[in-house]
Amino acid sequence: MAMTFSGLLLDIPAPTALAGPSDIFTRRESNVRSYCRSFPAVFATSRGATMWDEDGRAYIDFFAGAGTVNYGHNEPRMVQAVVEYLTGGGIVHSLDMHTVAKRAFLEEFERTVLEPRGMAHRVQCPGPTGTNAVEAALKLARKVTGRRTVIAFSNGYHGMTLGALAVTANPQARAGAGVPLPHVRVAPYEGNHGMATDEALEALSQQLRLAEQEDGGAAAIILECIQGEGGVNAASPVWLRGVAERARAHGALLIVDDIQAGCGRSGTFFSFEPAGIEPDIILLSKAIGGVGMPMALVLHRPEHDCWQPGEHNGTFRGFNLAFVAATAALRHFWRDDTLARSVATNGAIVREALLDMVQAHPGCALSVRGRGLMQGLRCEDPALAARIGRAAWDRGLVIERSGREDEVVKLMPPLVISDDELRRGLAILAEAVHAAIH
Ligand SMILES: Cc1ncc(COP(=O)(O)O)c(C=O)c1O
Repeated sequence: MAMTFSGLLLDIPAPTALAGPSDIFTRRESNVRSYCRSFPAVFATSRGATMWDEDGRAYIDFFAGAGTVNYGHNEPRMVQAVVEYLTGGGIVHSLDMHTVAKRAFLEEFERTVLEPRGMAHRVQCPGPTGTNAVEAALKLARKVTGRRTVIAFSNGYHGMTLGALAVTANPQARAGAGVPLPHVRVAPYEGNHGMATDEALEALSQQLRLAEQEDGGAAAIILECIQGEGGVNAASPVWLRGVAERARAHGALLIVDDIQAGCGRSGTFFSFEPAGIEPDIILLSKAIGGVGMPMALVLHRPEHDCWQPGEHNGTFRGFNLAFVAATAALRHFWRDDTLARSVATNGAIVREALLDMVQAHPGCALSVRGRGLMQGLRCEDPALAARIGRAAWDRGLVIERSGREDEVVKLMPPLVISDDELRRGLAILAEAVHAAIH
């Protein structure tokens, strides 16, 4: 079946049944596959906040690739920039050699993101995934400080490679390592188990003191300002400032993992901006690549740039098509505050809709969390969250769950979602909540 979309001819094979051992995915793809189990369709095309499967069924996307397609699927200006670059013979792979695409990105990033925020940070291109950025950050913090221990937080998620897994809380993910995951101390994230701000900060101080007594001090504290996989827990500015003060006082670098909450998801480009803190290392991935192009960045202070050339090397560190899409994204969405204002407006619409759902079902122990376009509906009963997710999918809404027991239905639509798609998606969710409860 040939389909045209955005002027491109897509050669899409005839629909194949998904269920059953005869389909190629079940027959050949590793059992490790995951999201396809929650969303059992074969997707073919997408635009904005809508995805279509190969049978032409439309789905509103409240998942956005876990915060990857913040600017919507196939944003036309980014697609055009990539297509023009390719058809113009632009170099696609160049290791980390200088290219015109990388220069344009660095100049735009400096102009649009770093300079307006007075950030002197250097830009490191690690491998293209979030976990690659985390590995590089942990290595750098240890190299800068000469220390080993890193402080991470309960419910934190930083990726699946061994270093990142060591600072990730999820027990099931950790069990997959098959080896010990040492040199990490875990402090409680604000609000975990009802822990108040002061209490959580005192517990952090305690971990920092223990790191000093037992291992010469902590190299870094790594955190997400809004925990994505951990259940959409948004930290308060007071707690974030308290963490930053303690990091400084104990000589530990502060690493903010903005891989999921960054690039405007929380309402500002970086999620830490409202707290007024200045992290030593900032990690970006997911949405930085514009239209879902694999890309990651480690931003670190110039005085910490003690890498030897090639000391943290790799083949795919700077994918030129990602630079092209990322440059277009910054140019079109971050030269002014239009997108940030629309995230604030849409965030308020989401909040109100979620509060309505809570009110409509008293006694079901529902609650709302998060900020910007990263919000969640927490269900005391994880089984209810699972039923809501399934009921939403059955009605054409792609929505994920997160939290220790997957008890939070997580809303992360593309930031550019249209008013109509947002309202239809929220209506489907309200219906799904009702159906799951009754
Ligand atoms: C906060 C955070 N850090 C790191 C990662 C790991 O990124 P990746 O899956 O690209 O390795 C994720 C992925 O969801 C994330 O949410």
